[in-house]
Amino acid sequence: MTSPVATPSGTASSAAACAAALDTIAAVEPDVAAAIAGELASQRRQLKLIASENYASPAVLLAMGNWLSDKYAEGTIGHRMYAGCEAVDRVESIAAGHARALFRADHAYVQPHSGIDANLVAFWAILARRVEEPALTTAGAGHVNDLPAAEWRRLREDLHSQRMLGMALDAGGHLTHGFRPNISGKLFDQASYGTHPETGLLDYDAIAAQAREFRPLILLAGYSAYPRNPNFARLREIAEDAGATFMVDMAHFAGLVAGGVLTGDLDPVPHADVVTATTHKSLRGPRGGFVLCTGEYAPFVDKGCPMVLGGPLPHVMAAKAVAFAEARRPSFAGYASSIVANARALAEGLQRRGTSLVTGGTDNHIVLADVAASFGLTGRQAESALLEAGVVTNRNSVPRDPNGAWYTSGIRLGTPALTTLGFGPGELDEISAIITAALRATAPASATARAKYIIDPRVAADCRARCADLLGRHPLYPEIEL
Ligand SMILES: Cc1ncc(COP(=O)(O)O)c(C=O)c1O
Repeated sequence: MTSPVATPSGTASSAAACAAALDTIAAVEPDVAAAIAGELASQRRQLKLIASENYASPAVLLAMGNWLSDKYAEGTIGHRMYAGCEAVDRVESIAAGHARALFRADHAYVQPHSGIDANLVAFWAILARRVEEPALTTAGAGHVNDLPAAEWRRLREDLHSQRMLGMALDAGGHLTHGFRPNISGKLFDQASYGTHPETGLLDYDAIAAQAREFRPLILLAGYSAYPRNPNFARLREIAEDAGATFMVDMAHFAGLVAGGVLTGDLDPVPHADVVTATTHKSLRGPRGGFVLCTGEYAPFVDKGCPMVLGGPLPHVMAAKAVAFAEARRPSFAGYASSIVANARALAEGLQRRGTSLVTGGTDNHIVLADVAASFGLTGRQAESALLEAGVVTNRNSVPRDPNGAWYTSGIRLGTPALTTLGFGPGELDEISAIITAALRATAPASATARAKYIIDPRVAADCRARCADLLGRHPLYPEIEL
């Protein structure tokens, strides 16, 4: 049954609320109600090891399904472009207050709709503080609208020619950290730092040398697929030395910061000028983003609307407030440390059974398995074979990946979701045995195949049965019957 460290489960009344919501939706569009129910059924069937997903509590989910969604509230708390925003002001202040307290931050902005939006708000706040404001001061103008055409053209060119140094995608960075298909790669003159070719770890001396040479406006740290904990105190020194604003994207590990697992040099908040995050990964809230920053950047971050955002999503801000309140409870610290203990058990189990892991293990919630080196598979083949075996994961590049970003050579695994269900280290070890059995029984469909694969059907069936047994011990939303 669900563990005391963490439970997304609700009560009979939340079960009744979910059932009533589905009935209400079904009366208008039964296919959508069926798809919503189908999603729960599918999540109940699979062992979720997707590192960026979780299970939000019924309180978080229900906070999103209401009339707050109907309200326009462009602006910030107490300064809106619309009348009648008292309830939204209240919701946003509660969410921002919880975020400040939870992360011990000077300022919190909880309007971004997602992680990518939070990063856009941060980039433009830094550009406004470091490039636009000095230009306005030099021109003696109070507002961009007051600039003559020639000066406005020059400022726009300056805004679009700044440098950013971020973690390379195949080293575990995120596509919003300067990857060319994303707007961050088009906006900035961008360079990437990788990891050490032998250890797979961040090489701070190499980053320092690169930053000194490149002199970026922004040094960006944070990751989607790095199984270790960056030293943010050291990265802060590097940023200062290069004259850069230090930004950290803690989308993945915000829950580990909130739960007190990452402290001191490993907590980005005391070291960074601006920190962005998502609420739906290890933090276990609704889908959404937020930004924390120092007082210096606060007025610029608060201009997220109209800079890159439109009206906020008040219903999602309500759900963020509920999730932050949950994360402030003492039990969340137990949850966060169990995430890491579970990831370690998974990593050790996989390694003991012969799987090669990037960096040789984990210190956080992520395990990155090199399935090309270990099983002769692409990430794409391993991801599909594991799904057939009852385990849902996602493929991921490994450093300097020979199979590229689409097929990849890796599988990223993460423990926030299963930890929410109450799984413990012994069960994660058992899962490592299931994964190993499934991948050993899988082969590429032909010598050149990068997507097609063959898995021994008896092994796949046996793995599915073992997954079902594990899931039976830790039911998802047990009070909800569909
Ligand atoms: C480090 C990082 N930043 C930003 C994002 C983007 O978040 P979202 O999907 O909410 O836009 C992700 C999502 O995977 C992420 O891992």
